[in-house]
Amino acid sequence: MKFFVDTADTTAIAELNDLGMVDGVTTNPSLIKKSGRDILEVTREICNMVDGPVSAEVVAVDADSMIAEGRALAKIAENIAVKVPLTWDGLKACKVLTGEGRMVNVTLCFSANQALLAAKAGATFISPFIGRLDDLNLDGLDLIADIRDIYDNYGFETQILAASIRTANHMSDCAKIGADVATAPPGVIKAMANHMLTDKGLAQFLKDAAEAEIKIV
Ligand code: G3P
Repeated sequence: MKFFVDTADTTAIAELNDLGMVDGVTTNPSLIKKSGRDILEVTREICNMVDGPVSAEVVAVDADSMIAEGRALAKIAENIAVKVPLTWDGLKACKVLTGEGRMVNVTLCFSANQALLAAKAGATFISPFIGRLDDLNLDGLDLIADIRDIYDNYGFETQILAASIRTANHMSDCAKIGADVATAPPGVIKAMANHMLTDKGLAQFLKDAAEAEIKIV
């Protein structure tokens, strides 16, 4: 499973990228707002840092305007994936932009039917939002599993990009189901390293090392 990092915080991206943990980046208007930076400037910086796809989201709502914004975003760098919402106009924009050879990430997906439409429109990525479904007492992981089944039934090449990931468990659950990509905030990716038995075991090893006066260098 590929790891995308869901942030516009370039410091956090750099730290994970240095560890080889970043296969791509996803942003959205809320994350750009949080960065406090100009969308074109910060997106260009991110594109220069990472080799993989960098999703940058349109803010228009009609297809023609989304296409114009998508073309402008795609000029930033070769690795831009234009992010469009899963509306009827978004699907139209997806079809046109993918027809021009651009990567398109169709976002705000909350149902298997929406994912089926995005695949038919040629989306490069479909972004089902797990956490926001869980927030409503629905099951976001069930949606990932349903989309996996549907895409595999027909050999759709659209990649399932699990989004709105809130916990480290979401990451392993998505990997078990077979999501192609999971995008998560930097804190969630780092939290995957945590285990209380690791902490407990390390504390004992350090205690014993001190008592045995072990020195290596
Ligand atoms: O990738 C989409 C993501 O940013 C949404 O996450 O936590 O706001 O539902 P969240």
